[in-house]
Amino acid sequence: MKILVLNGPNLNMLGVREPEIYGGKTYGDLVFMIEQYALEKNVLVDVFQSNHEGVLVDKIQEALEGDYDGIIINPAAYTHTSIAILDALKAVKIPTVEVHISEIENRESFRSISYVSMVAEKTISGKGLEGYLKAIDFFIKKRETL
Ligand code: DQA
Repeated sequence: MKILVLNGPNLNMLGVREPEIYGGKTYGDLVFMIEQYALEKNVLVDVFQSNHEGVLVDKIQEALEGDYDGIIINPAAYTHTSIAILDALKAVKIPTVEVHISEIENRESFRSISYVSMVAEKTISGKGLEGYLKAIDFFIKKRETL
């Protein structure tokens, strides 16, 4: 199984950025954690971050050539604004899990709208960095029940 993990703007600032909300671990820690977990579970992962909406759209489109079984995406602030990311995910039709480190439903009201959740098979919110591992588990479980 091969999964593409995409992270949106400011997630490269983990550890520095609002640690009371996002925790003290860095983006490097997150990537390491995901890669280690995937290795343990015999899953191939490509982990990518961009601060730019169009670059994320390009990555989603390119995923078609990458033979991915799933996409795990934390679109960060683009969650609440990006119809382009929603449309790209709809276009490629690759099963998607949406992850948010914080509990977006219990923050500012503008964060409770998620365009990506309209296409995501599952949304994991408020579980911290563990949310990404739970998303990998979701794909593993899904494959087992096929
Ligand atoms: C986030 C939540 C978003 O509202 C915010 O803009 C982010 C991160 C999260 O992981 O909790 O950048 O997606």
